[in-house]
Amino acid sequence: MAKLSVNVDHIATIRQARGVTEPDPVAAAVLAELAGADGITIHLREDRRHIQDRDVEILRRTIKTRLNLEMALTDEMVAIALKTVPDSVTFVPEGRHELTTEGGLDALLLQNTLKQKIALLQQAGIIVSLFIEPDMEQIKAAHKVGADYMEIHTGMYCEVRTERERREQLRRIELAISGARKLGLGINAGHGLDYRNIGAVVALPGIEEFNIGHSIVSRAVLVGMERAVGDMIALLNK
Ligand code: PXP
Repeated sequence: MAKLSVNVDHIATIRQARGVTEPDPVAAAVLAELAGADGITIHLREDRRHIQDRDVEILRRTIKTRLNLEMALTDEMVAIALKTVPDSVTFVPEGRHELTTEGGLDALLLQNTLKQKIALLQQAGIIVSLFIEPDMEQIKAAHKVGADYMEIHTGMYCEVRTERERREQLRRIELAISGARKLGLGINAGHGLDYRNIGAVVALPGIEEFNIGHSIVSRAVLVGMERAVGDMIALLNK
């Protein structure tokens, strides 16, 4: 049964729109856990557009499941991770002008920096994952630099317009899963997944955990966090 880590970034996006103290992503995380989430994910962006340093610190002390910290491959972020010690770190590419994370990390290009930063985090007992495209060269590079997990970027699958494209993207993901399995790399997946498109990905065996944010928070705004999380867990268990 695949696990669910709920990304609460966009609870913080609503808070930051007013520069006030609510809604609090910490409260959202507690409700997500009560609804059965296996973990909480947050992305501390360099520009602090949603999650703030205070959120990372309080979530570290309050959540009962696992905290996954998404972050850019920078010295500042690695220092924060070493100070707060989340259960896992997921390295993601970051562009200041993007609305959300756009592509996967180029693990091939960044091999040297990755190797060094992954080792530092692992020495502190932190599991390290790389957010990459379902591409065999990237998967091999992720393995080579010593990552524990890869998170398959499902963005392209989620953006398909035709049935043929959908089948092609699912096949890419399927091949990525079998490639990663052969190398002994753990497998997570996320980005753009919602209540309609998750089914076909869940049907591919081998993905340990899904990181889902926008669709859950969008539903939570209307029907409440517990129901939104519960509805997603029901789809993961189908
Ligand atoms: N995984 C990673 C690495 C991400 O950067 C994001 C977006 O913050 C997600 C998963 C969640 O994507 P979404 O909000 O579209 O569910």
